[in-house]
Amino acid sequence: MTKHAILNGTKLTLGACYYPEHWPESMWKEDLLRMLDTGIEVIRIAEFAWSKTEPEEGVFTFDFFDRFLDLCDETGMKVIFGTPTATPPAWLTEKYPEVLNADTEGILYRHGARRHYNYNTVVYRALTERIVTRLAEHYAQRKCIIGWQIDNELNCETNEFHSEADSAAFRIFLKEKYGSLDALNEAWGTVFWNQTYTCWQEIHVPRKTISDSTNPHEVLDYSRFVSASARGFCKLQADILRRYLKPGDFITTNGMFGRLDNHQMTEESLDFYTYDSYPNFAYCLDAYNPDDRDLRDRRWSRNLMEVRSVCPIFGIMEQQSGANGWNTRMEAPTPRPGQLTLWTMQSIAHGADFISYFRWRTATMGTEIYWHGILDYSGRENRRIAEVREVREKMKKLSPVAGKPYMARVAIAKDYDNVWDAELDKWHGRVAWASEMALFNAAQRTHTPMDFVYMDHTTPEALKQYKVIFYPHPGIMTPERAGMLAQYVKEGGTVVFGCRSAYKNLTGQCVMDRLPGLLAELTGADVQEYSFIAPDAGTATIRWGEDTMEAAVFMDLVEPGEGGGKEAVYTSDVYAGGGALVSRAAGAGKAYYYGSAFTEAAARLFLEKMGAANPYGEMLEVPESCELAVRGDGERQYAFILNYLKTPAEIRVRKPMKDLMTGEMLEGTVKLPAYGVSVLEM
Ligand code: GAL
Repeated sequence: MTKHAILNGTKLTLGACYYPEHWPESMWKEDLLRMLDTGIEVIRIAEFAWSKTEPEEGVFTFDFFDRFLDLCDETGMKVIFGTPTATPPAWLTEKYPEVLNADTEGILYRHGARRHYNYNTVVYRALTERIVTRLAEHYAQRKCIIGWQIDNELNCETNEFHSEADSAAFRIFLKEKYGSLDALNEAWGTVFWNQTYTCWQEIHVPRKTISDSTNPHEVLDYSRFVSASARGFCKLQADILRRYLKPGDFITTNGMFGRLDNHQMTEESLDFYTYDSYPNFAYCLDAYNPDDRDLRDRRWSRNLMEVRSVCPIFGIMEQQSGANGWNTRMEAPTPRPGQLTLWTMQSIAHGADFISYFRWRTATMGTEIYWHGILDYSGRENRRIAEVREVREKMKKLSPVAGKPYMARVAIAKDYDNVWDAELDKWHGRVAWASEMALFNAAQRTHTPMDFVYMDHTTPEALKQYKVIFYPHPGIMTPERAGMLAQYVKEGGTVVFGCRSAYKNLTGQCVMDRLPGLLAELTGADVQEYSFIAPDAGTATIRWGEDTMEAAVFMDLVEPGEGGGKEAVYTSDVYAGGGALVSRAAGAGKAYYYGSAFTEAAARLFLEKMGAANPYGEMLEVPESCELAVRGDGERQYAFILNYLKTPAEIRVRKPMKDLMTGEMLEGTVKLPAYGVSVLEM
């Protein structure tokens, strides 16, 4: 790990988002001193302030931020400077409306919100190059600056781009990919419904179609194109910034949003990744089962798993610190006493060594007047700032954790082709979402630390750390991914595939092999037929040895093929008596093909039967309602126990362990207060 001011493996650092342009200059110094006094050592600034440095086209004025940065130098505040491209100035979009993004009908998104530009207009890219160059030339050598944030939340607000510039860039992307129209027609299966293209100009980014049924193979490529566009826009800026950075200064951006290969973007442009964490969002999403109270804000740990997969030690650029909403949205209630600390610790538990609160003061104007920061409008001392001060003290005690990654021996394998395919293909999406949540819930409730691992961004060596890998529904399979998992199994790993695996190729077209195609040899499975579970089928059940479990969403009738052995059978409905789970041993490991999507109970059964559940059970007994996360290395491990409920919890510490935050040695029954967190040296 390269060391930077905020991710340096020696301490955890607090920050905040600050907007000098929102406040009278007379308040700046007092704010800076008060932040420092609160423990906030770093601020992120300027990411929406293009007009402050280029008020008219080609006219640059640097004095506004110079005056502010002078105060930062004077007070010792460190600064992450944001490039301002998420909000183009009015003069720009008025003069060059072609830079605007459009909806599927080609109607332009106008000035007044943010992220209304597209990544591909030649003129926007040129103006971006110029403003980033001028900012870097002018500010990069400043003592107080420690790093740069590119844009703000690439692909936030929308990840669909339908402007003319996007169609033009899409054609270039496709020409490079396919070389000829014949190859493109073949890959997109355009012979179906007479969609054959006869010249490149006929191709557009997806537009309004009847019954919204755009060619799925085209849309899959469009997702790849959007990702490449966002990455390219990020790299355009990173390459400029690199030329001006002081040694040790970093480049990052904050996420994370859809249709973007964050792994590749980080590899090609960033020093590390940062995430914006608003766990209270979870209270407002109806996708969550009301019975899963204990998993609401705790579900944000799923997002943090994604972030960890990109960058094991990362930063939180925006950590929720107050009630949230826009004037158009009533989003999340104020954190209860202790919750701000809990969410901060949730981020740290998963690998964040830098936590920056959004935002120091709540905005008094604009769309975000209800997106509360640490301070309310008046700036008076309040409960939240008092809690941040306590967090600062706790973070000091947690410095041994800095630089130590999250430790997991179970993983869910993923890849962007399937993530994006599942977004547009309902048959894929329903099983993918159900299984991912079931596996996450089961791992959380059995205290089984779990990672996401992206197949195209890992190595055979890295896979060896996992005892079990679930690759729930890779509808799209490639020889490379299948081969890597075959090697993993040979060397002792256990891999579990769910239904609908390996029935498509990279274009998203279905293969004509016997299923599961490229996985048939590895799993010893022969999928003879399949169906989603009929609405009138009742509970679809499976018997696995002495145990029973419920099938979910889909059933593949899976019998042993060559080398395979039948492990479980359906006990109800159309496939009653037929195979539901087949396995094949190879080398020192084993591969499974499970014919359904996972329920939480089924996921638990798999974890238990594979001896992967609750790996720290002999040392710690933690109630299901608390999360257990472990950061550490071969030498030292630290267990984070997080109570997300408004009632106290009890844990049992089975061998003496030091509580890092209090310094006390603990053993036996220990009480965690409502929203309480303990960090124990194991
Ligand atoms: C984030 C964004 C911030 C702020 C916040 C509240 O997504 O990066 O700029 O807008 O949400 O909406």
